[in-house]
Amino acid sequence: RQAGGVTQRDPRFSVVSDSDLQFFESVLGDTGGVVTDPHELAPFNKDWMGKYEGAARVALKPKTREQAAAVLRHCNERRLARGVGLVPALSLLQGGNTGLVGGSVPVYDEVVLSTAAMNQVLAFDAVSGALTAQAGCILENLDSHVAEHGYCMPLDLGAKGSCHIGGNVATNAGGLRLLRYGSLHGSVLGVEAVLADGTVLDLLTTLRKDNTGYDLKQLFIGSEGTLGLITAVAIHCPPRPSAVNVCYLAVPSFEAAQQVFVAAKQQLGEVLSAFEFLDRESLLITLRHLPGAKDPLPSCQARRTARRGPLSRAAPLYVLVETSGSSAAHDGEKLGGFLEGVMAAGLVLDGVLAQDGGQARAMWHLREGITEGLRHRGAIYKYDVSLPIGAMYRLVEDMREADWPPIRVAGYGHLGDGNLHLNVSAPAYSEELRQQIEPFVYEWTAQHRGSVSAEHGLGLMKAGCIGYSKPAAAVAVMRQVKAALDPRGILNPYKVLPLPAE
Ligand code: FAD
Ligand code: MLT
Ligand code: ZN
Repeated sequence: RQAGGVTQRDPRFSVVSDSDLQFFESVLGDTGGVVTDPHELAPFNKDWMGKYEGAARVALKPKTREQAAAVLRHCNERRLARGVGLVPALSLLQGGNTGLVGGSVPVYDEVVLSTAAMNQVLAFDAVSGALTAQAGCILENLDSHVAEHGYCMPLDLGAKGSCHIGGNVATNAGGLRLLRYGSLHGSVLGVEAVLADGTVLDLLTTLRKDNTGYDLKQLFIGSEGTLGLITAVAIHCPPRPSAVNVCYLAVPSFEAAQQVFVAAKQQLGEVLSAFEFLDRESLLITLRHLPGAKDPLPSCQARRTARRGPLSRAAPLYVLVETSGSSAAHDGEKLGGFLEGVMAAGLVLDGVLAQDGGQARAMWHLREGITEGLRHRGAIYKYDVSLPIGAMYRLVEDMREADWPPIRVAGYGHLGDGNLHLNVSAPAYSEELRQQIEPFVYEWTAQHRGSVSAEHGLGLMKAGCIGYSKPAAAVAVMRQVKAALDPRGILNPYKVLPLPAE
């Protein structure tokens, strides 16, 4: 198994019994919230990439925090009730199951607790922009909901049509607009969570300012289901921009891309809302595998055969720049000045400005679709690292130079945030290849004082890797927090933190 030392099922956990199932039926049966049919269970056991698969016998879909609390209390207390040293482990928790690090599916036979049925918007304050919603609301649906009031969600990501807001908060998802609206640690106003013992922690305020004691909600943001079940979230929504422009530029090098970023910050200022990049390999993946994807700059020869063409036109990298504001004329003027400047300075080989919403969406589709396109390329080894921007692309280049079995390396990501998505594809998964790639990528990242998880989390995949980015003393404090909130370790076992040393 590809986890921090997880080689066998933890024997302290019991197997779900018929009496457990009867209890779950008594709490959730009326609302159809107990799933045991193997066909219906299958999607709960498999992750989005098709890389991780568990063997849960049951998935539970509470509709309310009270139902969730009853289920958690039962699992936590069974040890006392039965006088045996075993508790059923919960794969806590599953939202939209779009996570990319194996965090959302069981490792063995843990009970899956899903927020799929907790999908109600609870309130929206059209003056402050504070949205309160149950954890299972789909991100895109929430964005449509607040759009009716002239607001937007402060985060956006390729999985918006399936991921849940609870899952977004649990992973502290970054995404495409972090550059503009910051991380969820800033925009989440309140959280309601149920702890392992069934205690409901109601921190669901919508206040912008609240310095009464420790800010406990922050613990749940990025906790990846290991500290409690997030049942509802309050989040600050910014005004929906009425003028949005997108341009797509081919650049001769990563060095040039960085200079274009600096120019964008200086000249676009407050209207700059995204600065993304993809390399030619990534572009080829979307063009090849995404139905309807078109190269916006065919002059820059994204086709593989183009390598034989004139070098000056074969762009190795592309950047996508977005502005969002309230005045089309003002933003257009700024963007025009920026584009003229970067062209005149020779930082850009060619570029295209979307002329309407359709063209803008097509450009975003190219960038957001890389993840889906990669699924058609065989086995994918996915790395999501934060690095000083100047070092980011060297990791991709160094990987390409490595003398390993046939691999292909694609680099893309959130350049403005210093977040590289490094994806290695090979014909099939091989433990031998993984053992070559991973120390290399993680050690490289640590040497540059980067983070081995920028935004996807640690999950199962990187449960043993936290030490590359955090000192032992910090990991020890994390273990204490985990022990305080989930003393029996029933929440998302085997994930996030490494197994304690023998
Ligand atoms: P799941 O996948 O179901 O769960 C993820 C983790 O959170 C698990 O550890 C789970 O136990 C825990 N969890 C889920 N819900 C709760 C809850 N209510 N309470 C407690 N714990 C919970 N991530 C980014 O950061 N930026 C991106 O740009 C981005 N783009 C993506 C694009 C695609 C096409 C895909 C497939 C994924 C992408 N992701 C991205 C990864 C993923 O982190 C996000 O999709 C999302 O935040 C996960 O939400 P989810 O509801 O699917 O959670
Ligand atoms: C992205 O930025 O596209 C997502 O984080 C998903 C990925 O890394 O593929
Ligand atoms: Zn990303």
